[in-house]
Amino acid sequence: MVEARRPDLVVVSGDLTQRAKPEQFREARAFVDSLPVPTITVPGNHDVPLWRVWERMLNPYGAYRKHFDETLEPVFEDEEMLVVGINTAHGWTFTEGRIGRRRLERVAERLERAPENLFRVIVAHHPLIPPPGFGEKRVLANAAEVVDVFSSANVDLVLSGHRHQSFLANSEEFYPKGRPPMVLVHSGTTTSDRGRGCEKDKNTCYWIELDSELIRISLLRWEDPARCFTEHSRHLYPRRERVPNSLEGLGLGAFDSAE
Ligand SMILES: [Fe+2]
Repeated sequence: MVEARRPDLVVVSGDLTQRAKPEQFREARAFVDSLPVPTITVPGNHDVPLWRVWERMLNPYGAYRKHFDETLEPVFEDEEMLVVGINTAHGWTFTEGRIGRRRLERVAERLERAPENLFRVIVAHHPLIPPPGFGEKRVLANAAEVVDVFSSANVDLVLSGHRHQSFLANSEEFYPKGRPPMVLVHSGTTTSDRGRGCEKDKNTCYWIELDSELIRISLLRWEDPARCFTEHSRHLYPRRERVPNSLEGLGLGAFDSAE
């Protein structure tokens, strides 16, 4: 599909491996390298060793860096969009991930420097909204704070992928504080057999298109016997309005060593 459609960018939102083994990273690297378009990837919690305790404590991203990518937080920019990857895979204590405040500050500054017309996308492994049926649980540990910062920094779209199930929402539906809404899209599993909920044994991915007014998001499902990704649902969101810099009121710049 990527070869046929040639998207401007493919986003891989983490959990490339099951147990952070070198051969698993190499296999993932070969797959990503086979895509004939630019890609951006962030690590997931499965990309940190679970049982190799010393490695997990002392060098949790060593295998990822060595066998997949030295960069944990890549950035992609072209004339239309700025895509910023954030590493949320703090595997030691935060099972649902976390974005440390210094990192949040750095990302906010990067977004503030970007030309106003750029479509702003964040890629983070862990979601800011829960999967269906989980109430308000199962989200990034400091999700409300992160939503405040991203929304104030004019982020348009947040992509994640941890729960093996596709879901998406307008951020206002979960964080009704009056800040400008962002679109939050959580990917199911595209290449593994670990789909959950209604996507058990299903492989899915999203196809996202932009124009000056709309974000068009299609959920694609792999269908047998057709053996291709087929549109399962389609979602349209208006492009959000830009707001003046409102990050100062969030206390950024006065952070301690929370990371
Ligand atoms: Fe994960």
